[in-house]
Amino acid sequence: MTLIHVVGARPNFMKASPVLIALDDLGIDQSLVHTGQHYDASMSQVFFNELGLPEPDRYLGVGSGSHAYQTARLLEGLEDDFIAHRPEAVVVYGDVNSTLAASLVAAKLEIPVAHVEAGLRSFDRTMPEEVNRVVTDALSSLHLVTSPEAIDHLEAEGIPDDGIRFVGNPMIDTLDRVVPTLNPAETRGRLDIGDDYVLVTLHRPANVDIPSRATEIVRALHAASERSNLIFPMHPRGRASLEAAGIADIDRLVLIDPLGYFDFVGLLTDARAVITDSGGIQEEATVLGVPCLTVRPNTERPITVTQGTNQLVEPAELPDALDRALSTDQRLRDRPPLWDGRAGPRAAVAIADWLEVLRREP
Ligand code: UD1
Repeated sequence: MTLIHVVGARPNFMKASPVLIALDDLGIDQSLVHTGQHYDASMSQVFFNELGLPEPDRYLGVGSGSHAYQTARLLEGLEDDFIAHRPEAVVVYGDVNSTLAASLVAAKLEIPVAHVEAGLRSFDRTMPEEVNRVVTDALSSLHLVTSPEAIDHLEAEGIPDDGIRFVGNPMIDTLDRVVPTLNPAETRGRLDIGDDYVLVTLHRPANVDIPSRATEIVRALHAASERSNLIFPMHPRGRASLEAAGIADIDRLVLIDPLGYFDFVGLLTDARAVITDSGGIQEEATVLGVPCLTVRPNTERPITVTQGTNQLVEPAELPDALDRALSTDQRLRDRPPLWDGRAGPRAAVAIADWLEVLRREP
């Protein structure tokens, strides 16, 4: 076995798909392991079907739990898998717990790791994803970078230049491939949504797990719903705590189940704005020219603020920020560099070159 790709959670799937397709075109032998960090059909299977990802070769069924519990199960499952299949190298994506676990297991087995979306930093270690990013990058030997500032972060952490390749953003390859095929009007009709709305996604622990913060968020959403219809597909993590904080499915705040990628991106394309705490949606909104209000004190994707449509807001600022976003004429700007729909092929070439170098090493 040449390569094992490890995916596990919703945001991994749209990053992995273009890289797998391009490596397949280069004839590289590869297999896909799904850890089962996300397991509900709406959080996992629907993405495989829509993105044309091959069925995973192995599914580890790790499931949910505390960070330690989940990571421990990931480590055990991935160690068995890597020992059984002995890949020449492992490819990991993004910043979820499956990413961290796969890089740690591989490093201990002396299997080289390539990290897709390396070098992003929020410099906020209270975010579990930031810990995952820092550890994964320290353990990886090939760092595939989506945005130029990531190169500086990696260099500052002592990563050698020859282990860094700026390939662009593979998630945008997936977006570009899918957008022309979408039918947002059909999605709206099926979900009984009008054509004038703001999309909402909030699920980060820092926003939904702390009751006082969840209450602040719910208050801000109710106030924002007086300015615009809000459509909120709820991640399972957020639902219980936001309901406990009093979120109500009212006329102008419509709470729905999580959506598949086609439905979500379709609704995003036509939205007047998006309110989010996701990482990937900041990037997608930038490329689609949709105003994005990110309810976080920081972002590991600053290029979406400096060259995109993104703005960081506190919950209390949300209603006014939404008013401003809705009244400002947004124009599509130039995309960030190398967010051109060709990142997957560049990543594949970088991985193939790296494998050649690994094979020459004693
Ligand atoms: C994970 C990622 C986060 C990413 C998010 C996207 C980490 C540390 N976090 O967060 O970066 O933005 O995925 O969705 O890896 N659950 C279900 N069904 C599922 C999966 C989860 O109901 O299929 C519920 C469970 O109650 C679970 C909770 O969601 O306890 C959290 O799941 P987990 O995988 O731990 O983290 P996410 O919040 O999904």
